[in-house]
Amino acid sequence: MPTQHQETRPPREAGARGTGHRRGGRRPRARETARVLTSVLLPDVARGVILRRPLMTGLVTALDTDRRAVSTLRALREHHGDDPLPLRLAGRRAALVLAPEDVRRLLRETPEPFSPGGLEKTGALSHFEPHGVLVSDHALRPRRRAANETALVPGRVVHPDGDVLAAQADEEALTLALALGGDGVLDWRRFTESFNTMARRVVFGASAARDRRTTELLCALRARANWAYTVPVHDSVREEFLARVRAGVERAEPGSLAARLVGGGHGADVRPEDQVAHWLFAFDAAAIAAFRSLALLTSLSPGAYAAREEADTREGLDLPLLRATVRESVRLWPTTLLVVRESTRETAWREEVFEAGTVFLVVSSYFHRDPSRLPYADAFEPEVWLDGRAEAEPGIVPFSDGPAGCAGRDLVPLMVSLFLRALIRGRSLTRLDAGGPLPASGLPASLNHFTLRFSL
Ligand code: HEM
Repeated sequence: MPTQHQETRPPREAGARGTGHRRGGRRPRARETARVLTSVLLPDVARGVILRRPLMTGLVTALDTDRRAVSTLRALREHHGDDPLPLRLAGRRAALVLAPEDVRRLLRETPEPFSPGGLEKTGALSHFEPHGVLVSDHALRPRRRAANETALVPGRVVHPDGDVLAAQADEEALTLALALGGDGVLDWRRFTESFNTMARRVVFGASAARDRRTTELLCALRARANWAYTVPVHDSVREEFLARVRAGVERAEPGSLAARLVGGGHGADVRPEDQVAHWLFAFDAAAIAAFRSLALLTSLSPGAYAAREEADTREGLDLPLLRATVRESVRLWPTTLLVVRESTRETAWREEVFEAGTVFLVVSSYFHRDPSRLPYADAFEPEVWLDGRAEAEPGIVPFSDGPAGCAGRDLVPLMVSLFLRALIRGRSLTRLDAGGPLPASGLPASLNHFTLRFSL
């Protein structure tokens, strides 16, 4: 079935099959492919797709690689046009998505004909969640997706168990603030330890607060997952990890996310421990987004002032400016660097036809930070999430979109906003590291969360 945008954009050339489409008609030059590899894909792999590596993250930031990635892709679009650009990468057929409308098509037409799984993702996630929804086949995906939605409730700004979840966030953030004292330094290590504790409490209930072992095992498995299918799964570690998660699910406390998952009655195929393993993993991205949000809140932009005022004065669970700050954090510095789809059959675009098995690559920051399209590309503007401007942009997809989009897309901003409010309310948040406060405009393309430091 042709999509709407194919019908509205007539093909420019007659194709080999009499449809107006052609197969692999546009080809990047060898040096363009090399540039995509060195300035876009390899830096993403080097810094770690599943678990960020501090050293490589520092290097990528120092070399301003993210900014070069955006300009490389813009140049490719100017030269080759809007269609996804065919690439040959390590023997695989790939296509670089260059037009925002195509991002929408890919994500909406998931899982058929654009599967969210695929070889690389399955290889990576099998290290700790072999039955996670993201890598489930077509038969099992709907039930696992439904179970995730029952628990995480995407589409609801305030989760139905919001009061219980907020109590966990408040307690953990206050524990952190008290532990730091007046002049203590809040660095990534302390922040992430506390945020992980909050995540376990939210997932299983307060009794999981001290269960650091589960997080440590997951961390070890994620480090291997960076190497995807090129290294074997560490079976015994994975079994220990998933057994602990299973036990946590079995004794999940009322009001916890795991209690909603198993209470949803979605059947045995759901494999709750694998779904919960994904949540624990994904809370790390939320921690990164939250820590960078602190950098935005200490920035010199008017949005920062308004959001801090909200933290100081607004009661209840609904904190629109702080939630928008979290969304800005992942727009400006996406934690999912690449959104990937693999086609299950031949697909036709404006001019190109791509074979089944093509890996479509969406480089998030290229779309999120496109100054030719977004006047706010390099600024902190939380309002764009409140007045519909960001939602109207098909290329701004920090939480992905469509049927396989992030099931935690509303839970994450909620939890982070509550945690941040409890942490900074009535305190004087200051950025301490050499980077200094972020400017009101011209924000850096990368922000290394490992090196941020604050005082409260
Ligand atoms: C800043 C934090 C987060 C960001 C930016 C984020 C982003 C994403 C993205 C981009 C995807 C889709 C990947 C794809 O299309 O291939 C995804 C999938 C998913 N995320 Fe998140 N995520 C975050 C945190 C979370 C958390 C904390 C949870 C759970 C508590 C969660 C649950 C899920 C689930 C279940 C999926 C799989 C959806 C499916 O395959 O149907 N995410 N997330």
